[in-house]
Amino acid sequence: MLDYNSYENNIFYPMEAKILNVKQVTELERHFSLKLANDKQMTFSPGQIMEVSLFGYGEIPIGFASSPTRKNSFDIVVRSVGRVSKAINKLQKGDSLYVRGPLGHGFDLKAFKNQNVMIVAGGIGLCPTRSMIQYILDKRSDFKKFTLLYGSKNPNQRMFVDDLEVWAKSSDVDFHETVDQGIPGWKGNVGLITTLFKNLEVESNTKVIICGPPVMFKFVIFELQKLKIKNEDIYLDLERRMKCGVGKCGHCQINDHYACIHGPVFSLDTIKHLEEAI
Ligand code: FES
Repeated sequence: MLDYNSYENNIFYPMEAKILNVKQVTELERHFSLKLANDKQMTFSPGQIMEVSLFGYGEIPIGFASSPTRKNSFDIVVRSVGRVSKAINKLQKGDSLYVRGPLGHGFDLKAFKNQNVMIVAGGIGLCPTRSMIQYILDKRSDFKKFTLLYGSKNPNQRMFVDDLEVWAKSSDVDFHETVDQGIPGWKGNVGLITTLFKNLEVESNTKVIICGPPVMFKFVIFELQKLKIKNEDIYLDLERRMKCGVGKCGHCQINDHYACIHGPVFSLDTIKHLEEAI
């Protein structure tokens, strides 16, 4: 008989996670480094998600923002937009929150091995893709050319500024960044993320990951098609309005697909016929 009080046998059972560190990244976003209580290990793949909860408030789906290759902790970024996220964002180092996961399908790491990879991230889309970025950088010899494009609304909304500085100087990644609107003192590119494609050298056999606001998808896909990148090589990280995270409630449904169990990572080939998807 299964013991439904144990996490291993119950998909709804939240595990306690201790906050090792927390940092305010922007006005709305906080970056947490977590560790499961009782020396449990969180095992996950880049692109997977978890449900993060606080008793008395509820739970919200959040993607892993660090790579499984970094074993001491796992990261999430929480944007203060609703009751649950606002309550979570009041927590401090040493407090606990609760997690269920990992959930869903992440990136097919075997398919990405020995390939050229490009990641196109917009706004807080950099958070879930940071897991794959760190993974690639930690296993750099497993991949060919690695290109990273990042666009944010303005310089005050840039996520992970320390990482951005490192990536900009690194020879392991061809990093390009832009902001939609500059502010006094900003010396970088200004323009939509699609403007970064102008002088880009990308092979047509590159696997591409896109994550960001839905409005960005169509325009980025258009640029990728100009580069002759095939639909089957384009992956979208779709984080829909999830609730249960395990295919029971239908909140994340896109026609016959559930973002929580079939995704959140989908190849464009799989979902291009679903009007709602992109
Ligand atoms: S979140 Fe409930 S079915 Fe996907």
